[in-house]
Amino acid sequence: MSARILDGRMIGRAIRNRIKVHVDELFRVAGVIPGLAVILIGEDPASRVNVTNKMKACPDVGIRSTLIEHAKDVPAEFLVENIRRLNDDPATHGILVQLPLPPHHDVRAVLHAISVERDVDGFHLYNVGGLVVGDTIFSPCTPFGVMRILDHAGLPIEGRNVTMVGASAIVGKPMALMMMQRDATVAVCHAKTRDLAEYTILADVLVVAAGVLNLILPQMVRTGAVVIDVGINRSPDGRLVGDVNFEGISQKASYITPVPGGVGPMTVTMLLANTVSAARRYVERTRGPSIFLQDVTQLALQGR
Ligand code: GUN
Repeated sequence: MSARILDGRMIGRAIRNRIKVHVDELFRVAGVIPGLAVILIGEDPASRVNVTNKMKACPDVGIRSTLIEHAKDVPAEFLVENIRRLNDDPATHGILVQLPLPPHHDVRAVLHAISVERDVDGFHLYNVGGLVVGDTIFSPCTPFGVMRILDHAGLPIEGRNVTMVGASAIVGKPMALMMMQRDATVAVCHAKTRDLAEYTILADVLVVAAGVLNLILPQMVRTGAVVIDVGINRSPDGRLVGDVNFEGISQKASYITPVPGGVGPMTVTMLLANTVSAARRYVERTRGPSIFLQDVTQLALQGR
């Protein structure tokens, strides 16, 4: 078997074209340009690359983005005060603090300062808790992007065995909850899991977000499985690769996401969708519900 490639760039482009329609409508109806504030603290090179990718995508759909940089030792009160100001800024509809923060910062305190209505990363407690009952304002972008990839390809989730490798708050845990919401049977594995292969071999859909090069080998994957690789690593020969052995697993899986060009572009696309949704919610809050098209986040979830 040779797996079909789930092309996140292509799927992302299709969704971004639809997002653009909503951005144009926001301006036509309300004179509003969606605004995203991106906060980068410290000098982590990977975070800077991530932030650059996110900001570069914004003008393509008509979002105005602003980068706010702080030194790694910025005082917590200053940071929180800055976020509170952005919460009240009529031109800022989404706020994102790039993670991880430098070690001495209290991540929870920083994330909790972002108002739920501007939490386009889906990290606010309301949005995190909402995943349990399937009722968030904004879903976290990476798991949201994975769902969108599966839906776009018409791959069923209900009743399937899903194994999630990685239990981070950003990807693994929300991904597991989103899969449960769609009636999958979900196993969550992490660094302390014994006998990882016993879980991965059961998976109809295997999602891997562990950040470990070559963690998943072909013999750990069921023939015909759908394999979603969220990992990003540098191989010894300098290539960007995921957590799964792509060459070997492509011979066994039915579908697989490449790295790069799989989940990464979808994470950015869902951030754009959430930001435009936040701008629309802002207009509705301040001026009352009006004649908008369908909610852009819902729209991004539907159709192929
Ligand atoms: N660091 C790694 N992934 C993410 C993400 O989705 N959002 C933010 N803010 N930081 C990240």
